[in-house]
Amino acid sequence: MSSSLITVAYLASAVLFILALGGLSTNDTARRGNLFGMIGMVIAVGVTIAAFVTRHFEWLIAIMIGGGVIGFVLSRRVQMTQMPELVAILHSLVGLAAVLIGIASFLDATIQYTGVEKSIHEIEIFIGVGIGAMTFTGSIIAYGKLSGFIGGQPMLLPARHWLNLALLVAVVVIGVKFVGAADHQQATLLLLAMTALALLFGIHMVAAIGGADMPVVISMLNSYSGWAAAATGFMLSNDLLIVTGALVGSSGAILSYIMCRAMNRHFLSVIAGGFGTASGASSGPAIEGEVQTIDIAAMAQLLNNAKDVMIVPGYGMATAQAQHAVADISRTLLKKGIKVRFGIHPVAGRMPGHMNVLLAEAKVAYDIVFEMDEINKDFPNVDVSIVVGANDTVNPLAQEDAASPIAGMPVLEVWKGQTTVVLKRGMAAGYAGVDNPLFVKENTRMLFGDARESLEALSQAL
Ligand code: TAP
Repeated sequence: MSSSLITVAYLASAVLFILALGGLSTNDTARRGNLFGMIGMVIAVGVTIAAFVTRHFEWLIAIMIGGGVIGFVLSRRVQMTQMPELVAILHSLVGLAAVLIGIASFLDATIQYTGVEKSIHEIEIFIGVGIGAMTFTGSIIAYGKLSGFIGGQPMLLPARHWLNLALLVAVVVIGVKFVGAADHQQATLLLLAMTALALLFGIHMVAAIGGADMPVVISMLNSYSGWAAAATGFMLSNDLLIVTGALVGSSGAILSYIMCRAMNRHFLSVIAGGFGTASGASSGPAIEGEVQTIDIAAMAQLLNNAKDVMIVPGYGMATAQAQHAVADISRTLLKKGIKVRFGIHPVAGRMPGHMNVLLAEAKVAYDIVFEMDEINKDFPNVDVSIVVGANDTVNPLAQEDAASPIAGMPVLEVWKGQTTVVLKRGMAAGYAGVDNPLFVKENTRMLFGDARESLEALSQAL
């Protein structure tokens, strides 16, 4: 295959990947975005095989079929709520690939560089293997925490920040010796020693972070896996891998930043660990006031008399798998001529776009689903807000208590509407472990119970 044909094909793939990322930014275009990404990947893999592989096609085909079947079965089986751990385990494979390719590239006797080119190649290998190794073990620990194999509690070793610093210094020192090493065998040992330290660093870094902070960590590991792939691209002099790696690396970094900003957390405080481990326990000022409950019949009546209804889903909707029941109720109310909208907080749930994906699965029309910034000003006109398993994202303390862990986090101002009905099982706190005064406000009614069961009963009553 001629080099200009390879360049054109790679360029087409790179453009398709950029269109894919653009498409994934809205619900309406997400499917098309996915399709662009798939076509881009088929071109990239196809051209790479046709251009660079000269023998052992049978092995390649067998491995691709094996990997494809595993991927297909996994994608059919995985539940929406298990998506973060699937992503984590896939990142670990990118990290492992970067480690193996880096070491293989270093041991490959046919790659002969001299002078500055040799040093640059060695730096590429060192960085690629290092990032790959910590992505590999970090992602496995993240997977373990999310899937329950490993406890969600952070492992906070004494002087852990010093330990991290010592590891970093050791890696830099080894790196300097590695690049200058005249003896290939000694250099190989140095590379393997750094790999071992980076594997250890990945474990230590993610083990120190509480299970609830894992989504940010996964997005960060996503970014690392992209940079590891970009470094691999440099090692192999493959332009498309560099571009693709950089796209993944930068989009993962931007996503981590957006998530941290929406939670009003500093990225460094997430990485330093120790937050979000309270799950269920609560902290902050004691909430004073009477909890007022409501039953299904009264809620049905409330909704039948309403003109404008806002549904605010949160993590509890995902755990209860209540999205279909929510969608049914929205359709019933719309048929009755009642205005129904969904208000979505950017970090509702446990992964970016969590609520949007669930609502799309339940076939809720996109044009009644609004982002927080679009909808917040409308709450004073809303007759009934239905809060389905949301807690932190509707907590007024974020605006009222400067000492609260969620102070400054933007929230959906449901309490400004006429009546708010909160569906949850009890009075437990949300992810941030903070009590919520919304539950005792004058115009709030609590409908206790599993969100799905409550909504199915409500659907009947309507
Ligand atoms: P949360 O504050 O986590 O609250 C969820 C509530 O759902 C809980 O209070 C729980 O109360 C209730 N619940 C659980 N299971 C339920 C069920 N079966 N039926 C009814 N209710 C149920 O939810 P949120 O408002 O969506 O906030 C998300 C939080 O996660 C934020 O603090 C955010 O910063 C954090 N976070 C988000 C992300 C992303 S990217 N989305 C990433 C990391 C962290 P009961 O136990 O009393 O039922």
